[in-house]
Amino acid sequence: MATYKLLLLPGDGIGTEVMAEVKRLIAWMNSHGLGSFETEEGLVGGAAYDAEGVAISDATMALAQASDAVIFGAVGGPKWADVPYEARPEAGLLRLRKDLALYANLRPAICYPALADASSLKREVVDGLDIMIVRELTGGVYFGEPKTIVDLGNGQKRAIDTQVYDTYEIERIGRVAFELARKRGNKVASMEKRNVMKSGVLWNEVMTALHAREFKDVALEHVLADAGGMQLVRWPKQFDVIVTDNLFGDLLSDVASMLTGSLGMLPSASLGDVDPATGTRKSMYEPVHGSAPDIQGKGIANPIAMLASFAMALRYSFGLGKEADFIETAIAATLDKGLRTADIKSDGTTVVGTREMGQAVIDEVARLA
Ligand code: NAI
Ligand code: MG
Repeated sequence: MATYKLLLLPGDGIGTEVMAEVKRLIAWMNSHGLGSFETEEGLVGGAAYDAEGVAISDATMALAQASDAVIFGAVGGPKWADVPYEARPEAGLLRLRKDLALYANLRPAICYPALADASSLKREVVDGLDIMIVRELTGGVYFGEPKTIVDLGNGQKRAIDTQVYDTYEIERIGRVAFELARKRGNKVASMEKRNVMKSGVLWNEVMTALHAREFKDVALEHVLADAGGMQLVRWPKQFDVIVTDNLFGDLLSDVASMLTGSLGMLPSASLGDVDPATGTRKSMYEPVHGSAPDIQGKGIANPIAMLASFAMALRYSFGLGKEADFIETAIAATLDKGLRTADIKSDGTTVVGTREMGQAVIDEVARLA
């Protein structure tokens, strides 16, 4: 059995509380032959700032570079509101994404049957929903130059953001989407606005060519991003994998994720290039939620987003799809039994804390494995 090196970065706030449940799950898996993981732990965010005066140290970055996957909790909060910009807790997250060149952000939107009534949409629209948004994360309008505000000198200012995409950037994110689709519903919807944007024209062209060259077995459709937003709330189950640029992906992934309920349920993955020498890729897995200072220290944070992020690491970094399935099925089974953390409680359910929810999921994994 291969041994994988994980760098655990709990961060601050509820990051440390939900990471504790992942640590217990990893320990359980190690001791029951369900994988072999070596873990190291590092400081990031407010925890790193308090101890070392930086958002993430060079030493911790080196650990991240040397690991097979980074498992990240959450960072931020009012305690660090006045620290210098470069040392803000969030800067640690940005440095990890940048230095590891994590250009593909995967945000699944899964609706667990037990929670279908919590959606703002009708049960039949979301029940059983399982789609994956693949957002380009390191290019586009968030990074393109020029990016500035110019004083025109006549009482007017001009703000400029620039959307830039090169062929290789579109191709590599497209490849991630097509490869994912092959392991899922074999369908990719590529979303851009070729009707008004040159980057949309190139995006469309590159996706079409990549599809014809390498992925003819996967169904590809091109959808204008605004129409895609409409379709996501009208009938989201028509989609399997959606691939889109940084800005549209930011919006569409937030819309898609909220079809299915609480922030406390939503995992994510960020992937970089495959290293030809080892066949592994740089990767980081983290819940979508932040450090939730309002509930920190109370032991009530929902650990499911964090546990589901770890399941994504098993699937996308290590090819441990069966083990990932165990965790995801265990989460669904725990919810089916009526256990809820406070953020997802409803009538007739039993409210439990972080620890109990984590243990219940581990117990279900034990039953399945
Ligand atoms: P947040 O995600 O931390 O919290 C939003 C709301 O959702 C809060 O009411 C919180 O209690 C609740 N919530 C979030 N996760 C939960 C969980 N697992 N279980 C139960 N309830 C949960 O976002 P907010 O409040 O806007 O930001 C707080 C801090 O976190 C800020 O400093 C922000 O910059 C940072 N942040 C960090 C992120 C990261 O580390 N990736 C992502 C988003 C925000
Ligand atoms: Mg967003």
